[in-house]
Amino acid sequence: MTVAEVKAGLEFKPGLEGVPVTLSSISYVDGKKGILEYRGIPIEDLAAKSTFLETAYLLIWGQLPTTEELTAFEHEIRYHRRIKYRIRDMMKCFPESGHPMDALQASAAALGLFYSRRALDDPAYIRAAAVRLLAKIPTMVAAFQLMRKGNDPVQPRDDLDYSANFLYMLTEQVPDPLAARVFDICLTLHAEHTLNASTFSARVTASTLTDPYAVVASAVGTLAGPLHGGANEEVLEMIEQIGSVENVRGYIDDCIARKSKIMGFGHRVYKVKDPRAIILQNLAEELFAKFGRDDYYDIAVELEKVVEEKLSHKGIYANVDFYSGLVYRKLGIPSDLFTPIFAISRVAGWLAHWKEQLAENRIYRPTQIYTGNRNAVYIPKEERESPTDFADVN
Ligand code: SDX
Repeated sequence: MTVAEVKAGLEFKPGLEGVPVTLSSISYVDGKKGILEYRGIPIEDLAAKSTFLETAYLLIWGQLPTTEELTAFEHEIRYHRRIKYRIRDMMKCFPESGHPMDALQASAAALGLFYSRRALDDPAYIRAAAVRLLAKIPTMVAAFQLMRKGNDPVQPRDDLDYSANFLYMLTEQVPDPLAARVFDICLTLHAEHTLNASTFSARVTASTLTDPYAVVASAVGTLAGPLHGGANEEVLEMIEQIGSVENVRGYIDDCIARKSKIMGFGHRVYKVKDPRAIILQNLAEELFAKFGRDDYYDIAVELEKVVEEKLSHKGIYANVDFYSGLVYRKLGIPSDLFTPIFAISRVAGWLAHWKEQLAENRIYRPTQIYTGNRNAVYIPKEERESPTDFADVN
């Protein structure tokens, strides 16, 4: 069929927009009503009543753990938080100027060198890999942060829970309880979101039956892009560039005139305000009430108001990345660590999808519409004319 015929037949969906490619029971999103559920439980309930580790267990094994199951799971995670000294030594060779997402992708893949056995049909192997990745990813993110400042990384503290320990490893200070609780809720909010780009990447990689460390490394690389997980870092840069509430309207008008995307807004699925943004905005207000307000929040609120005024007719509203950066900044986290923190959380969702893909696997192999030449003639070098203008060779 010609390109036009195929396109007319609606078989061609760039970016697979709206095309179901798998069955899944992990999370549910209603983009029109602003609903997000993990294994059927509303995100609002999990944010208010659960913890990130309990939520990770729910996502991966499909039900909330009993008290005994959760205690055992938390103990296993504490036990596996440390990383091999060879991984630390490898990270010491990374340039300080490198982006932490590249450091995370490299070190996540390197984990596979130490756990190369692949027993994908063994539930004990699946659990061990899930525990190692959930336990070690935060340690690697924190280690790179201290190393790039020229310091030795600190060992995890077993007397601290998951989020408090991460903030401790990052700052070498035991965090304020409110900061640790708010951070843990942020991890719960970012843990899973149906078939977003990085989760799709994880499922495609998983479908080849490679190891889970390669699956996570593939997803980390996908999450790093500014259109996906990298937006939260860009939101803060945007707020800093705007500089004051008075400048917001002019900035938005300029973006619209240039048809440039405004970071932290819009979503392929949500056509109303992202339910996670609502919760994150409340968390930001809680932190500002305790640790002091600043104009970043006022600029963000004005940004959201003006974008809603000018772009809501297109279904463009604040997404999860809009307020998360403000929360992390108030917790003293450097902006280029926002996306690695997104990865720490989304490992839970990627692992759930890895496990679900293995349960009923079929390797992903979509097709294409070929638009190139056919039956072209090979021209000998001496007969070739002016050098190809590589600008128009796609
Ligand atoms: C995440 O998929 C997930 O679930 C992702 C995520 C998760 O939890 O995994 O929710 C996390 O990735 C959140 C999104 C973070 N990214 C950003 O904030 C970057 C800015 N957002 C845009 O790049 C964009 O909104 C996307 C990529 C998120 C979604 O884009 P779509 O669905 O492909 O929309 P589109 O590019 O087809 O745009 C449709 C229209 C266009 O206008 P027209 O050409 O029709 O006139 O909406 C406009 C776009 O110009 N538009 C925007 C906009 N997003 C879309 N205009 C201004 N600013 C924006 N942010």
